[in-house]
Amino acid sequence: MKLDPIAIETMLDQLVEKGWYEWPSAISESLCLALLNELLEAEETGRLKKAGIGRSDERQINNNIRRDQIRWLTGETPSQIEFLAIMTNLQQALNRALFMGLFEYEAHYALYKTGDFYKTHLDSFKGQANRMVSTVLYLNPDWDAKNGGELVLYNENEEIIQTTVTPSIGKLVVFLSEQIPHEVLPTKLPRASIAGWFRCNSSTGQIANPAK
Ligand code: OGA
Ligand code: MN
Repeated sequence: MKLDPIAIETMLDQLVEKGWYEWPSAISESLCLALLNELLEAEETGRLKKAGIGRSDERQINNNIRRDQIRWLTGETPSQIEFLAIMTNLQQALNRALFMGLFEYEAHYALYKTGDFYKTHLDSFKGQANRMVSTVLYLNPDWDAKNGGELVLYNENEEIIQTTVTPSIGKLVVFLSEQIPHEVLPTKLPRASIAGWFRCNSSTGQIANPAK
């Protein structure tokens, strides 16, 4: 499948204007279901691991901050290859329109079991930054708002809620990694997603028109 070109333009405008975009039905349900099956199979066969916090050298598990279980995508299956190709298209669109110099995308499956959450955080810190743009794709069919597990995006000083996102299948949330603090509220049912990051070479990491 391909991303809708008109929706890509809207996403680019919104990213410049406010730093985030919530994109419903961005990715086809059939691809999302295939990815969900892989995630559930990884869970059943013990191939997920508890997510950590902090950079690689000081990585640690902290149950009070985040409780999801993850598995990095490697492109080892046709569904992963298709998903990663779609994200490469997105990367090209971001680079063409915003001169972001993104050169790489990394992504992991995440499973939040009942009661799991991820407290407010930034995906990247100014200065150390090479994560520039964050993406989250949701894989949950028939997700009801009362199941919880919303993604909440805040403004830069964490005082104002920008939006509260229901993690429904096919939805892709895109936001600037250094500027948008966000959290995952406790979920009442298992909640599946793919979180990913476009990275830049830190020496060239500039957005032409940063959102404020
Ligand atoms: C993350 C993250 C959000 C989500 O993995 O860094 O913020 O909605 N995930 O799963
Ligand atoms: Mn995050």
